[in-house]
Amino acid sequence: MNELAARLRDIDARFQEELRAANDKAALEAVRIAHLGRSGEVTLLRRSIGALPERERPSAGKTINEAVQKMETALQEKQEALRSQSFERDLARRIDVTFPAEMPLLGSVHPVRRLIGDACAYFERHGFAVILGPEIEPEYYAFDALNIPPDHPAREGFDSFFLGGDLLLRPHTSPMQIRTMQAHRPPIAIVVPGTCYRRDAVDARHSFQFSQIEGLLVDRGIHFGHLRGMLTGMCRELFGPQQQVRFRPSYFPFTEPSAEVDTTCPLCSGSGAACRMCGGAGWIELGGAGMVHPNVLREVAYDPSSVSGWAFGFGAERMALVRHDVDDIRRFFENDPDFLEQLA
Ligand code: FA5
Repeated sequence: MNELAARLRDIDARFQEELRAANDKAALEAVRIAHLGRSGEVTLLRRSIGALPERERPSAGKTINEAVQKMETALQEKQEALRSQSFERDLARRIDVTFPAEMPLLGSVHPVRRLIGDACAYFERHGFAVILGPEIEPEYYAFDALNIPPDHPAREGFDSFFLGGDLLLRPHTSPMQIRTMQAHRPPIAIVVPGTCYRRDAVDARHSFQFSQIEGLLVDRGIHFGHLRGMLTGMCRELFGPQQQVRFRPSYFPFTEPSAEVDTTCPLCSGSGAACRMCGGAGWIELGGAGMVHPNVLREVAYDPSSVSGWAFGFGAERMALVRHDVDDIRRFFENDPDFLEQLA
């Protein structure tokens, strides 16, 4: 019995020494196998118990178990120590204080918002004020004051969301023409960006909610040439230096004469040949424009014989589609980060 204890002490002493010397995972495993493994010293000793007299066996087993437990605990502690040492080493190696820090993810200005901002900046540089207006309007501002009486068929073109009473979600930004002219005397030079709503079926070019940019200039001697000049400048700023603008006769109750405004297709530079953006036309439609109708000037107590003006109203999503060569207006509302990052 004493002999067993002495042999275990001896094994343990060597085991502890080898453990101290082991300084990586592989060395530690070698120590474990040598002493505690299947053919390790302690295991062999345990097998020799069978040769002892029957009554000595339990206490011999107990002595061995205690010795094994002590050794296993020492092994675990050393494993733990090695693990935290190597973690500290990795940590020290990986932190390089001269390395640029990881930047937080930043969003970007939405492409439609950016287009509106750029268009407004252009007009501001030319002395226009940028103003905003209410998105809920009475019919008076949305239609009547704009020379669209209740039974006028043009009202159907602005298929609107009515809110009860005579209120509706504005179907265009033109009501701000009236509000501004009623509040101020000429000269008036404003641009009005803002959200509009119509009961239009959603497709690649239409949405029930969209943005317009309205422009209005009223003073003595204002003529169509001023409109052409300002819109050509705006298109060159937004789409490129070669842009041209053309007017096609059209009809709006609040302008006379009225026009649809087109600009050279920026994708094919107006050449038109098999262009997916303009379908070969060479031109892209931006929206409506014209000289402010005398009835509108009279409505706000301006004298049409002494002042004149022009106005336009363009679709901002439509312009952003053209600017970024995007195929479908819905992409601007889906807010897919991959899409927005490409245009950022
Ligand atoms: C108007 O809204 C007039 N107020 C424009 C105007 C202002 C004319 C001042 C004269 C003087 P229109 O309904 O054509 O016009 O709309 C103008 C533009 O808004 C369209 O060319 C289009 O770009 C955009 N738009 C209209 N409806 C939608 C829609 N459902 N979805 C997306 N864009 C639209």
